[in-house]
Amino acid sequence: MLKVSHLTKKFGELVAVNDLSFHVAKGQIYGIAGPNGAGKSTIYNLITGNYPFEGEILFDGESIAGMPPHKIAQMGISRTFQVPETFSSLTVEQSVAVGAHFGDTDLFDPQRVDEIITFLELEADRDRMAGELNLLGNKKVMIGAALGTRPKMLLLDEPMAGSNANEIRALMALIRRINVEMGVTIIIIEHFMKVLTELTDKLLIIESGTRIAEGDPDKVTSDPEVIECYLGQAYAEDN
Ligand SMILES: Nc1ncnc2c1ncn2[C@@H]1O[C@H](COP(=O)(O)OP(=O)(O)OP(=O)(O)O)[C@@H](O)[C@H]1O
Ligand SMILES: [Mg+2]
Repeated sequence: MLKVSHLTKKFGELVAVNDLSFHVAKGQIYGIAGPNGAGKSTIYNLITGNYPFEGEILFDGESIAGMPPHKIAQMGISRTFQVPETFSSLTVEQSVAVGAHFGDTDLFDPQRVDEIITFLELEADRDRMAGELNLLGNKKVMIGAALGTRPKMLLLDEPMAGSNANEIRALMALIRRINVEMGVTIIIIEHFMKVLTELTDKLLIIESGTRIAEGDPDKVTSDPEVIECYLGQAYAEDN
């Protein structure tokens, strides 16, 4: 579904993404992890059309090179942001509707907005200002806005950041439901290894924009090079 080949992105002297290739199959939950500054968010910025790049990104066989972000959204790729970005001056319902509008060339479908609000169990909050909700609520609204475009693929950037154990459980269940019930293929960038090993079908580890390991999450997280560069001794001893 998504085929990334020899992807490279330089910011001046800095090579943020370095000759990276990977493939995400339809229906998968695909994980990406690596140290701070490894280039994870940059990969999303390239897939969603924010910067030009070297290499190739094919979505459903079609090259997205040079396409503007709204075109890529209309093809079926949607994302959330690392720092929860909701529209503080909009209600929950309006926030989801903005997403629904971005994905459509015609006027958005109010039924889609209802579906998403019900799916996220946000009915009681639909007329509240999005900024008034707690962290979990804010994250749901951001995911709701991303789902408004009826994506085939959803890119989640550290969705668990700042969350407590209960919120992490709720978000994991929600991500599984989006994958299974909505049939959305998912890429998730995450630092919580437990989340990645439980949720993902395949895991990519990068450092300095370069691939360190890729494959079965349990195998990847026990790879000595991955432990050395990223997970650290503590993780190895815990497991
Ligand atoms: N627009 C930009 N201009 C210049 N440098 C950038 C830009 N965006 C990212 N970088 C640099 O590229 C590198 C990769 O950044 P990126 O945000 O992709 O890392 P990350 O893996 O998402 O890190 P984190 O875990 O901290 O979110 C960093 O060194 C960052 O400073
Ligand atoms: Mg990042």
